[in-house]
This record gives sequence, C-alpha cells and structure tokens, in this order.
Amino acid sequence: MTEIKGKKILVTGGAGFIGFHLTKKLLDLGADVTIYDNLSSGKMENVNDNPTATFVEGDILDLPKLLSLPKFELIYHLAAQVVVPYSMENPTEDFETNARGTLNVLEKARKDKTRIVFASSAAVYGNPTVFPTPESYGFHPFSCYGLSKVVGEEYCQIYTLQYGLDITVVRFSNVYGSRCHGVINDFLDKLQKDPSKLEIIGTGEQARDFVHVSDIADALVLCAGENASGKIFNLGFGKTTKILDLAQMILNILNLTEKTKVTTTGQSWQGDIKTIWFDITKVKTEIRWTPKIRLEDHLRNLIAERQMI
Ligand SMILES: NC(=O)c1ccc[n+]([C@@H]2O[C@H](COP(=O)([O-])OP(=O)(O)OC[C@H]3O[C@@H](n4cnc5c(N)ncnc54)[C@H](O)[C@@H]3O)[C@@H](O)[C@H]2O)c1
Repeated sequence: MTEIKGKKILVTGGAGFIGFHLTKKLLDLGADVTIYDNLSSGKMENVNDNPTATFVEGDILDLPKLLSLPKFELIYHLAAQVVVPYSMENPTEDFETNARGTLNVLEKARKDKTRIVFASSAAVYGNPTVFPTPESYGFHPFSCYGLSKVVGEEYCQIYTLQYGLDITVVRFSNVYGSRCHGVINDFLDKLQKDPSKLEIIGTGEQARDFVHVSDIADALVLCAGENASGKIFNLGFGKTTKILDLAQMILNILNLTEKTKVTTTGQSWQGDIKTIWFDITKVKTEIRWTPKIRLEDHLRNLIAERQMI
C-alpha cells in the first residue's frame, strides 16, 4: 500500500461527494489532510463529518489564496463544475472553473514541486465508437464540460513535459455511493416522493459504467504511488448498464415493478453521452486495482440507507 501516513495532502473539492470519501480514507490512513473548497456544490456537512481535516473555504480561481497555502506533499485536484447541462448553458463559467481553476492548482504545484492527481472524466471521450473504451481512444469531447476537462488534462501534460511535474490523471466513469448526486440519486428522490411513477430523462437507452466511491477512494490512494506517476487511468467498473435496466433494478429492490409507471422524456440534455463503458485493463495491471463492489449488490444498501426498505 502506498505510504500515506503522516503525509500533508491537499484535497480540492474535498467538501464534495468523491472528495468527502477520499478525505475520510486518507484520514483513516493517518494523513494530514487540508480541504480547499468554495462550497458551490459541496456541503458543510461533508466537511464536518471529517472533523480532523483542516478546512479552508476558498476558490480555485483565487490564485493568490491558493499560493498562500502551506506546502503539501500531494494534491488531489477534484474541485470542478461537474454538471454537463450546466456547462452547456454556462460555458464560460464551466471553462473558468475547470480549465483556469486547474491551471491555478497546477501553478500551486509548480511553485512547491508537489505531486498531483487530477480528476478528469469519461466526458473527454465524447461518444466513443470503441467499447470497452481504452485510455488511448483519445479526446473527442461532446460537451463544454468534456472540453474543459480536456483542457485541464492538456495543461497537466504541458506541466509534466515542461516543468517536470509529477502528475497522474484519472478519468472517472459514473461514481455512486452514499452522498452521491446523479441518476441513481435522482431516481431514488423521485420514487421517495411518488412511487407510482418514474420519469427517465432521455430515452433510457443511455448506458453508464457505474463504479462505487469506496473503490474509487482505494484507487486514488494507489494513484499516489510511484507506479502511477505520469500515467493516465480509466477508473470505472468495466461494465455498462442501461439506464432503463438500472430503473428496473431499483424497482425490483423496492418491490415496485408492477406498481410504478416508467416513462421517458425521449429527449436527452445537450452533451449527453450514449454509452460509457471503460476498459480498465491498464489500471488493473499497472497499479493492481480492481473494483470490488457490484452495482446490483450495493443498490440495496443505498436504498436501505434512505430507509426506503
Ligand atoms: N461523480 C462522478 O461520477 C464523476 C464522474 C467523472 C468525473 N468526476 C470528477 O470528479 C471530481 C469530483 O466530483 P464529485 O462528483 O465529487 O462532484 P461534487 O460537485 O460533489 O464535488 C466538487 C467539489 O468542488 C467544489 N468546487 C467547485 N468549484 C470550485 C471552485 N471554483 N473552487 C473550489 N471548490 C470548488 C464544490 O463545492 C464541490 O465540493 C470532479 O472533478 C468531477 O469532474 C466525477
């Protein structure tokens, strides 16, 4: 296991969903963690539930403030504008946070010669034609969010090439688990309000590679190790699930298959990707990470956590 104990680590976006779970894991391993977050989508509850972390409320667009932070040995850069439709309606804001914000975090790392793990996304592949999609598929973004993540990744490449910074880029597929947002949460919210109907945005034929956040936190810890230096990894489960099938899985657990009327809007949002299905051979081989939690096993826990069964 990568040596984390006693390490001074900065987690940007540490008040968010993945940031919360990563921070918790790092603290459990004995790290000295500082969360840097502007709480735009992150929650104070996530900060308070990791009470031994230091919290700095700040924006990654505030370069002087970032530069004034103490020196860290490792930075996980997770802070981002994460909503695809929002990026299509607010492309300049999305660019500022995800492209310029990432550049600012890289500047902080350059000043202190700090190793970075940068959170990118399946959105950099756009609508792939190769499945499962390997890292080498390359950039074909289909949304402003995807493009702003490409820009972040390209800056990482330049900072590696020109300044010798040690960076690992991880591309997440669809991460789920407690405190998550996204489609699973959306379905559970809707069913909790009214179990007689479930509206799916889009055709329901979209498919996603769902990976559990505790597997992701494990992978991120391994990404701090030497084997991950300078590399790019897909972090997903390596399996794809249609959204209509996801809805049926949830209805099955809730015993609602006969009772709930499932409808689709037919119209997806701008920038929506049809299928995400990652090839995870590289990460399995190079850092010996294999996701353990299967969607069908964990959905029941998520539903129980909400006291819906
Ligand atoms: N959740 C997923 O399925 C998924 C998939 C692909 C990529 N990602 C990437 O993983 C990272 C974490 O995503 P998440 O799901 O935890 O999202 P999240 O919205 O829960 O967390 C993002 C955090 O960043 C903070 N933030 C946003 N703008 C900021 C700014 N300007 N300055 C400081 N903090 C700021 C937010 O307050 C929030 O706490 C993001 O980079 C996202 O693009 C997530």
